[in-house]
Amino acid sequence: MTLLDTLNRPLRDLRISVTDRCNFRCVYCMPKEVFGPDYQFLHRDKVLTFEEITRLARLFVSFGVRKIRLTGGEPLVRKDFPDLIAMLAQIPDLDLTMTTNGSLLPRFAEQLKKAGLKRVTVSLDSLDNAIFKSMNDVDFPVEKVLEGMDAAKAVGLAPIKVNMVVKRGVNEDSILPMARFFREKGYILRFIEYMDVGHTNGWRMNEVVSAKEIVKIISAEMPLEPVDPNYRGEVAERWRYKDGSGEVGMVASVTQAFCRDCNRARLSAEGSLYTCLFAVKGHDFRDLLRSGVTDEEIVHKIESIWGKRADRYSEIRSENTIPLPKVEMSHIGG
Ligand code: GTP
Ligand code: 5AD
Ligand code: SF4
Ligand code: SF4
Repeated sequence: MTLLDTLNRPLRDLRISVTDRCNFRCVYCMPKEVFGPDYQFLHRDKVLTFEEITRLARLFVSFGVRKIRLTGGEPLVRKDFPDLIAMLAQIPDLDLTMTTNGSLLPRFAEQLKKAGLKRVTVSLDSLDNAIFKSMNDVDFPVEKVLEGMDAAKAVGLAPIKVNMVVKRGVNEDSILPMARFFREKGYILRFIEYMDVGHTNGWRMNEVVSAKEIVKIISAEMPLEPVDPNYRGEVAERWRYKDGSGEVGMVASVTQAFCRDCNRARLSAEGSLYTCLFAVKGHDFRDLLRSGVTDEEIVHKIESIWGKRADRYSEIRSENTIPLPKVEMSHIGG
């Protein structure tokens, strides 16, 4: 069954955050001034159990969801995370993947593969240790993240994608070295425009390096040409090296909004459903799940929420929308 929202967009992609915790403090996501030692993370009782997540996932799949991406915070800091993958992997015909900072992949890659994970996307913002450490803010070295990617490759979690958030004045000099390195490696590097997610990162428009600028920088050395999307509503715009040596992606959510085909729903670690990355409020499913409801009642609630959906934040971003108290990235996983 396909469910359409008010703008005729189907529900195809579910992003599930399994924890609001992370072992990094990226400046654009969990700045230390806010996420310091006194920050109150969700208590264990408030976070959905693996059984609750799996029950919801199955119901979403019955509405046409074909991709489930596990996110966080950092999904691998959730205890026994591979067990959840094993449970979700029982659902047929699903692109089951995760977005991770890679730090714990050397330890978990094999277990994840065995449990049924298909592929991974690893975040890395620079190959320069001084720059990367200033961005992750916990002194985490580049080499360990690269080890994580290689561990994923070694067990066949392919294709490996790499996410680089570009922030002006911080890491734009890393664009070319990253492009050269990952072209050589054969991993798909995606450049992400710094976004005004949440309300703690102090986002400013002049800190955004546009996808257009990034394409120009790379093309000057390694000519690029556009490629058709793999499927309608793909987030990253695809570009390939003209010499056939691979491709890169541009996630241009700020300068070229892609809300028109947005088919994504997000489930936060505490069980709230968000119909947009920039939503101010979610719809609670945790209390519903814990009240002994039937599947029909849950299905009815999903139908009603998606049926009323009209979100297109990136298309209507303005001076007025930027200061809104939006949900934090670490709660809904990007
Ligand atoms: P694949 O194409 O399946 O590999 O995944 P993806 O690109 O959808 O997922 P990923 O978690 O790697 O996201 C890449 C970047 O795009 C992240 O910074 C996300 O926050 C951002 N992103 C993903 N979906 C949306 C969306 O619906 N709206 C906006 N504005 N940004 C999004
Ligand atoms: N802008 C753009 N991307 C961000 N991410 C986290 N915060 C932001 C932001 N403010 C990225 C992470 C990860 C992905 C899920 O989202 O680096 O790769
Ligand atoms: Fe952690 Fe990812 Fe946020 Fe960085 S961007 S703090 S790795 S959740
Ligand atoms: Fe979808 Fe909201 Fe992102 Fe637009 S801003 S693409 S509606 S999540």
